[in-house]
Amino acid sequence: MRSAKKNHPMSNSRVIDVSIGPSPRRAYDVRIGPGIASEILSNTPSLVGDAPSRAMLVFDSGVPRADRDRIADAIASGGLEVFIELIEPSERVKSLATLGRLLNRIAEARLERADPVIAVGGGIVGDIAGYAAASYRRGVPIIQCPTTLLAMVDASVGGKTGVNLNIDTPTGPRLVKNMAGAFWQPSIVLADVALLDSLEHRVLRCGLAECVKHGALGGFADAELGAWTRGALPRLLSRDHAALTELVARNVAVKASIVASDERETAATGGRALLNLGHTFGHAIEPMGHLSPTGSAENAPLQHGEAVALGVVAAAYASASMGLVDETLAGRLRDDIAAAGLPTSVDGLPDAPTLLDAMRDDKKVRAGHLRLVLPDGPGSCRVVDAPDEAHVIAGWNVIRA
Ligand code: GLY
Repeated sequence: MRSAKKNHPMSNSRVIDVSIGPSPRRAYDVRIGPGIASEILSNTPSLVGDAPSRAMLVFDSGVPRADRDRIADAIASGGLEVFIELIEPSERVKSLATLGRLLNRIAEARLERADPVIAVGGGIVGDIAGYAAASYRRGVPIIQCPTTLLAMVDASVGGKTGVNLNIDTPTGPRLVKNMAGAFWQPSIVLADVALLDSLEHRVLRCGLAECVKHGALGGFADAELGAWTRGALPRLLSRDHAALTELVARNVAVKASIVASDERETAATGGRALLNLGHTFGHAIEPMGHLSPTGSAENAPLQHGEAVALGVVAAAYASASMGLVDETLAGRLRDDIAAAGLPTSVDGLPDAPTLLDAMRDDKKVRAGHLRLVLPDGPGSCRVVDAPDEAHVIAGWNVIRA
C-alpha cells in the first residue's frame, strides 16, 4: 500500500497516490484542487498512455452547462475527438438499460482500446461510466472527474463500478443497489473542488455523511479526521476551496489506505468491507421511495448520503446495544451527523421484519446471514457476522421517528 500526501507543484492542489495490489499492482493519482479538471484534461492523452484519438465524455446532467463546455473544450484542445453523452443522476436511471445505451453510443463512436471514457459527475454517473469502460472491448481506460463531494471522497476512488438491478420479490418489485458491476480502477481521478460551488446544499451534505463515516474509521490513517471535520464544518459549508481541498485529500487518504490491500473486499476480517459502515442499514431504506429526510413528501426519497447518515446512526446504536461501544460514542456519531445537517431519524419506516428482509439483499450477506460493520471504539470499526436480530432492531428503533 502506498498512500502519500504531497502538494501539487503548480497550484494550491493536493495529490494522493492510490496504490492497489499486490498483484497486479495498479497505481494512480487522485488530484484535488480548484480548477484542476480542465487544467489537467487539456492533456488527456498523457493521462492514459497509448496515443488515444477519441474520448467518450459522460456528463451528469446536473453539471452546469458552462462547466460542461469548459471541460469538453479542454479535452478537445488536447487533440482528441470528443463524443458526449448526458445521464440523469437518479437511482432509477442507474440501470442495465442505461448501461446498454451508453455502450451502444461508445461503439457507435468507434472508441478503440486506448480511447478513454471520461466520467464527469456524481457517483451514479461515475459508476455507470466506469462499468461501461470496464466492459467495452473488455476494458478501456476510465478517467473519473467527480463533481459531488460524495463522489470525490468515496465513489470515484477504489474502482467499484456498477448499476442497480430490479428484481421481483414476493412483496413486489425491488431495486437492489449496485448488484451488477466490476472492479475497474481509473487512470486518474480529478477532484475539482470549484465544481462544488454550484452543488445544492442537500447534495453537499450527503458527501459529509461519507466523511463522518471515514472519521469513524480514521484510526487507519488519520485519527484526527473526525475532530478536524467537526471544527471545519462552517468553512466547508460555505464552500471554502482550501478547506474542501483538505477535506477531500484527507478522506481519500483514509479510503486509499483501506482499499490498497483489499481491492475486492475479500479480506477475512476488516479490509474494504469496513467502508460499508452504515450502508447495510442505508441500502435497505434508500429504495423506499416514500421516506423523506425532513418528513415532508416533497423531499422524498432519501438520497444515498442521507440513507448512509441514518445507517451510521443505526449501526452506532446497534453496536451500543451489543455492548461494543458505550452510548457516549454512539451519541457523538449521531451529533456529527446532525451537525452536518443530515437526518438522524426518519418517519414512515416499515416494520422490523420488512427492514430485516430488505437488509438481506446486501452484497455482504453470507449463507443468508447479515454481516454488519459496527463501531467498536473511537476511529475503529469491525465486521460482525450474524448479529443477533434484537440488536439490529434496536439500531432501527433509534432512527424511527
Ligand atoms: N464505497 C465503499 C467502497 O468503495 O468500498
